[in-house]
Amino acid sequence: MKTVRVNLPVNGYNIFIDRDFLSRIGEILSKEVKVKPCRALIITDRNAGGIFGDVVTDSLLRHNFDVRVVSIDPGEGQKTLKTASTFYDACFEHKLDRGSLIVALGGGVIGDISGFVAATFMRGIPFVQVPTTLLAQVDSSVGGKVAVNHPKGKNMIGNFYQPKAVFIDIDTLSTLPKEELIAGLAEVIKYGVIRDRELFEYLENFLPDILHLATSALERIVEASCQIKADIVEKDETEKNLRAVLNYGHTIGHAIESLTHYKEFRHGEAVAIGMLYASQIAIELGMCDNDVFERQLLLIRQLGLSLHSGLRPEDIIRTLYLDKKALDGRLRFILPVSIGEVVISDKVTEEILHRVLHKPL
Ligand SMILES: NC(=O)c1ccc[n+]([C@@H]2O[C@H](COP(=O)([O-])OP(=O)(O)OC[C@H]3O[C@@H](n4cnc5c(N)ncnc54)[C@H](O)[C@@H]3O)[C@@H](O)[C@H]2O)c1
Ligand SMILES: [Zn+2]
Repeated sequence: MKTVRVNLPVNGYNIFIDRDFLSRIGEILSKEVKVKPCRALIITDRNAGGIFGDVVTDSLLRHNFDVRVVSIDPGEGQKTLKTASTFYDACFEHKLDRGSLIVALGGGVIGDISGFVAATFMRGIPFVQVPTTLLAQVDSSVGGKVAVNHPKGKNMIGNFYQPKAVFIDIDTLSTLPKEELIAGLAEVIKYGVIRDRELFEYLENFLPDILHLATSALERIVEASCQIKADIVEKDETEKNLRAVLNYGHTIGHAIESLTHYKEFRHGEAVAIGMLYASQIAIELGMCDNDVFERQLLLIRQLGLSLHSGLRPEDIIRTLYLDKKALDGRLRFILPVSIGEVVISDKVTEEILHRVLHKPL
């Protein structure tokens, strides 16, 4: 078992990474996380819960937890206050109190909404993350951003609320649809560009192994990604400054997602296009070599991701200025200097955006 520590002033926690791990969650919870047997509510969706619900339930029962499961239909559409409210009902029904535990079993949708419910039920009860998509394992389960969506915007109702532990079973990725795996890999490429040249080179060398679900390769990239996210979150838990580097590729990515109403592009696909444009902007500003762009392009092509949003540059630019990241009317971009290093820049003008977005990638 590998352990990545998220060291925070209060409420630090461990990310445990292993294979064939779900059956040992009860044991690790008791022995390592020191959670005493209590009422536990597993929140999941029909896909993740259908495959992994029983093994997690059994493991908790064996360690004397009093377990209930509540399961919803999968999908981003469920990440609402309405669904959260049905979870509060389940918390009451199951008589959860501040000494109880919520277990989030599933992808980022389940993790975000379960964390939100845990953060708000009785002003906060303990919760743990059991992420089962690559995106959730490398990104959403770590760092404590919890939220639901609002008709006015994605993740608009939320808070920072850290889990007590994160349990990553690499084997859960074996049932994940290929497109979901690929969408998660876009975030792994992101980590390589922002912080870790070796991780990026590993992706360049071993992408076929990763796509064929070689466990050691998956373990390598999940651990490296969690380590980077942990380092960044430790330095800036509530996104005052540094944590913004995690938004590399996300500025234009979000604009693409929002303009297409979150229906045409998976998050990772939109981020991939966003990273390529951010690199073109950096080249335009003389901040990095063409090579930085070309290497990302090659990886993203190998993933078979689309490079074309099909959107008008003017619409993307308009949306960027509406986005919450436009501080005082200035856009804030995360731009690569080299593979492994990015800077936060407010030097990107509308004119540069026009020039870059009008050129095909
Ligand atoms: N909190 C954060 O810091 C953060 C960061 C990034 C993304 N997010 C959020 O994460 C969400 C996206 O997460 P996601 O990509 O995991 O999507 P998701 O939770 O919708 O999962 C994708 C699909 O995979 C299914 N699934 C999950 N695990 C499976 C498995 N092992 N085998 C087979 N099917 C499985 C799910 O049922 C779903 O249909 C978004 O809501 C996004 O806002 C949050
Ligand atoms: Zn992302």
